[in-house]
Amino acid sequence: MCGIIGYIGKKNVVSVLMEGLKKLEYRGYDSAGIAVVNRNRVKIRRVKGKISLLEKSLEEKPIEGSYGVAHTRWATHGRPCEENAHPHRDCTGTLVVVHNGIIENYLPLKEKLKAEGHKFRTETDTEVIAHLVEKYFNSSLEKAVQKAIRKLEGAYAIAVLSTKDSGKIVAAKVGPPAAIGLGEKEFFISSDINPLLSHTQKIVFLEDEEMAVFNENEVKFIDYKGNSLEKRVDHISWSPLMIEKGGFKHFMLKEIFEQPQVVRDTLNGRMSLDSGKVCMDEIGLSPQVLRKIKRVVIIACGTSYHAGLVGKYFIETLAQIPVDIEFASEYRYRDFILDKETLAVVISQSGETADSLAALRSVKEKKALSLAVCNVVNSSIARETEGVLYTHAGPEIGVAATKTFSAQMAALALLALYLAQIKGKINKKESLSYIQALQRIPHKMEKILNQAESIEKLALDFVSFSHFLYLGRWVNFPIALEGALKLKEISYIHAEGYPGGEMKHGPIALIDEKMPTMVIVPKDRVYEKMLSNISEIKTRVGYILAVAFENDKEIHGRVDKVIPIPSANPLFTPFLTALPLQLFAYYIASIRGADVDQPRNLAKSVTVE
Ligand code: G6P
Repeated sequence: MCGIIGYIGKKNVVSVLMEGLKKLEYRGYDSAGIAVVNRNRVKIRRVKGKISLLEKSLEEKPIEGSYGVAHTRWATHGRPCEENAHPHRDCTGTLVVVHNGIIENYLPLKEKLKAEGHKFRTETDTEVIAHLVEKYFNSSLEKAVQKAIRKLEGAYAIAVLSTKDSGKIVAAKVGPPAAIGLGEKEFFISSDINPLLSHTQKIVFLEDEEMAVFNENEVKFIDYKGNSLEKRVDHISWSPLMIEKGGFKHFMLKEIFEQPQVVRDTLNGRMSLDSGKVCMDEIGLSPQVLRKIKRVVIIACGTSYHAGLVGKYFIETLAQIPVDIEFASEYRYRDFILDKETLAVVISQSGETADSLAALRSVKEKKALSLAVCNVVNSSIARETEGVLYTHAGPEIGVAATKTFSAQMAALALLALYLAQIKGKINKKESLSYIQALQRIPHKMEKILNQAESIEKLALDFVSFSHFLYLGRWVNFPIALEGALKLKEISYIHAEGYPGGEMKHGPIALIDEKMPTMVIVPKDRVYEKMLSNISEIKTRVGYILAVAFENDKEIHGRVDKVIPIPSANPLFTPFLTALPLQLFAYYIASIRGADVDQPRNLAKSVTVE
C-alpha cells in the first residue's frame, strides 16, 4: 500500500519519477504527488486521484528539478485529498518525505511537536516524520533521519530530501520494502523493482533498520547507529518487457493468458519423468529435516490463502500429513500451538504482506520450521524463512491475482509430491502418474483460454446481476471462494463462495431468479453430491452455470449453461476450473466499465496491518 520512489541522476527527473510511479500505481491510487529540487528550492505538485491526473497537472504546468521523490497513496490516516497527499513537508518547506506504512504513535508525537511550535498542515501520520527530521536537523540529513526514526513506532519505508543538505536522498525502512537501484551515476529508491528494471538490474534490498544515503556519485549503506554496511547486490533477471501490457486491454487479461506458461515455468526443472522424482534441492531445507515433519500449517492472505487451501488438499492427499490453513491476520493474534515438527508454509506473492510477515515472525519464535512460497525474489518473507520455494510467475501488475495463484498451486503440488516421496507415501508408479498429470495441465489450460470469446459472450448476460453464489466441493471448494473473490473485487458484484454441502445450512435461503449460481462440477469423488446440490437449487428456480468436464453429457440437462473444461486428474482440476472463473469475472468487470487493474479501495501489496 502506497508506493514511493526517489531518483538522483542525469535523466529527466520528473519523467523518471512519473514513469516509476505508474509502475507502482497498483500499490495504491487515491492520490499522488511529486517533489523535485530545482536550484536548491523544493517544487511540489500533488493531486487527489490517480497518477494520470498528476501527469495532466504536470503537463499543464510543468516543474523541473535535478533530483526528487514521488508517491502514490492508499489512504490510511487522513482522507484522500490534495493536502493529505505526499510528499509531506516540514515547517520550512525545505524538507520533504514520502512514506509507505503506518506510524502508530503519530498522535503523541504530533502533540509534542505542536507544543514545540511545529505547524502541521495535514491529517496524516506521515507528516510527523518531516517535522521530527526538521527538529533534529543540524547539518547532516542522514543523522537527523537517524534520530527521527528512533522515535517512530510502526512500519515505514521512507525517502527524505532537504535543500539544507542538498543533492542527497536518504532512505530507511522498518517493515515495508525498499529497493535501491544502482545505475551509472544514478541511484533510485523504490517500493519494488518494477520501476527500476528499465534503468538497472542491479538492486540492493534494504533490511529493517538499514538506511541508504545517495547522491549522484555514490550510495552508502548504514545501520541506524551510522555504522557502514556491506550490502549484497542482486542482479534481477526480470526484463522490463514483462511489465508491459503486450497488446492486451488490461494487465489482468494478459496475466490470465500467461498462466499455462507460468505453470510450466514453475514446474520445469523440478520434476523428472525419467526418475519419477521431484527435486527440491534449491529450497534450502534438506530432505532429512523435512522427513521429520508431522504437521503443516499454511499461512497466507487473500488469493494466496485460497491457493493454500488447495495446497492443503494436495498435501493431505499425497503426503498424508495433516495440514491446517490459517489467515495470517487471525493467526498472528491467536494462542497457536506449534513445535519443531511443524512446517509453517507462508504463501505470499509479494513476500511483503504485513500480516503474513508478522505471522511468520511469531511462528519462528515458537521454533517451527518455515518455508516461503513467494514470487518476488528476495522479498522480506523470502528472506526471513529458512527455506524458499519460488513461483516463476514473473511480475504481476493486475491488483487481482491470477497467474500467481496458478503458480502457487503448481508450487504446492510439487511440495506435496516431494513430501510424499521423502516420507515414502507414494511409489514410483504413482509418482510418475501424478507428474504426468501435472505436465499435461498447461496444455489443457491453453484449451480453456481458447474459449475466452465464448466466456465473454456468456458474461454479457450477467453484467446486471447484483449477487452471485459460487459452489464447489472438495478440492474445488477453494476455487468457489477464489471465483467469488475475483468477481467481487473487480466488478463490485456481491459474490459468495461456499462448499456445496453447506448450502442447505444457510445460503439456499437466498436462491431465487435474481441470484445465479456458478457450480464447479468436474467428475470427481463429489460429483454425485454436487448433482444433488444442483437439483436443490433448480427446485428453487435458481439459474445455474456450471464448469464441467467437456465429456460430461449428463450435466447439460441439469443446468442452464455449461463452461466446458478438458478432463484431468481430479486432484489437479483447480488449475483448470480457476481459469473460466477468472475470465468470467474479468469480462463482467470489463463490460461494466470497471477499472479492472486497479479496483477501488484495493492495493496489490498490503504492507499495513
Ligand atoms: C492483496 C492483493 C491480493 C493478494 C493479497 C495477499 O489483497 O490484492 O491479490 O492475494 O493481498 O498478497 P500476497 O502478496 O501476500 O500474496
